[in-house]
Amino acid sequence: MGQLDNRVAIVTGGASGIGAACAETLAREGARVVATDIDDAGGRDLVARIRAAGGEALFLHQDVTDEARWPEIIAETEAKYGRLDIMVANAGIGVSARTIVDMTMADWRRQTAINIDGVFLSVKHCIPAMRRAGNGGSIVMISSVAGLRGSPTLAGYSATKGAVRLFAKSIAMECAGAGDGIRVNSVHPGIIDTPIWGKIPVNAQATGRNAPPDPHELARTGAPLGRAGTPYDIANGVLFLASDASSYMTGAELVIDGGITAGTVARRI
Ligand SMILES: NC(=O)c1ccc[n+]([C@@H]2O[C@H](COP(=O)([O-])OP(=O)(O)OC[C@H]3O[C@@H](n4cnc5c(N)ncnc54)[C@H](O)[C@@H]3O)[C@@H](O)[C@H]2O)c1
Repeated sequence: MGQLDNRVAIVTGGASGIGAACAETLAREGARVVATDIDDAGGRDLVARIRAAGGEALFLHQDVTDEARWPEIIAETEAKYGRLDIMVANAGIGVSARTIVDMTMADWRRQTAINIDGVFLSVKHCIPAMRRAGNGGSIVMISSVAGLRGSPTLAGYSATKGAVRLFAKSIAMECAGAGDGIRVNSVHPGIIDTPIWGKIPVNAQATGRNAPPDPHELARTGAPLGRAGTPYDIANGVLFLASDASSYMTGAELVIDGGITAGTVARRI
């Protein structure tokens, strides 16, 4: 028996990093998983890995900011697997700038389109499907420690993750008020070893850096546990929020950050 037998999940940004780990972990626990992404090759590899491990998954191409695509994603999920129980709104990007004065309007719009509009559309379109399935549901939004405290050079990113944090609480209250059994929570990863770091544009003039940030180097000094997290550290938390083990949690923040937001270690012994 898996923790998610008979459940159906959508994971956005499922082709890489945290999203891929979430898709694998939910499938391992019995969920049938629809992973969506703009990265078709990564999505196909993910589905092959899940099937090789005995799980069930489907990949669908999707840009989360494209509103017209959302009803198709929901319809294809219901046609293939019959229902929707779990939404992991994970797709996101980080756009850095040396200071906010250096950030272009185009970069701000790209940052907010994927990290906020994409989450809004995920939630707007999954709730009616969860209500049709009639067995409650779990919406998990991937925010960040950058949604809990300021992040210089990633101010736009931080703004989007702070928005997601309170968006989750607001939708949690709407669903609780509707009595539909849908729980809504946010997850706040710290420094996690995924490809996202290498995708942060290297524009020395704008960012003051000559190379992408190295998560291991950042975590050695920045995370009290002294190491970067793995995508599975986050996926395990998402599994908990997706499963009945968290049935009394809604509107909550699950922080998985190696201690970053707890304080600073004075000296490593
Ligand atoms: N890695 C970290 O340290 C860290 C820390 C805190 C929060 N997060 C958050 O976790 C989430 C996943 O990040 P990750 O580290 O796994 O990054 P990643 O780059 O490995 O994966 C992100 C995935 O999202 C996809 N994506 C990007 N734009 C998209 C779009 N418009 N539509 C659909 N898919 C799109 C990418 O193709 C990629 O597969 C993000 O929301 C990120 O902000 C990551």
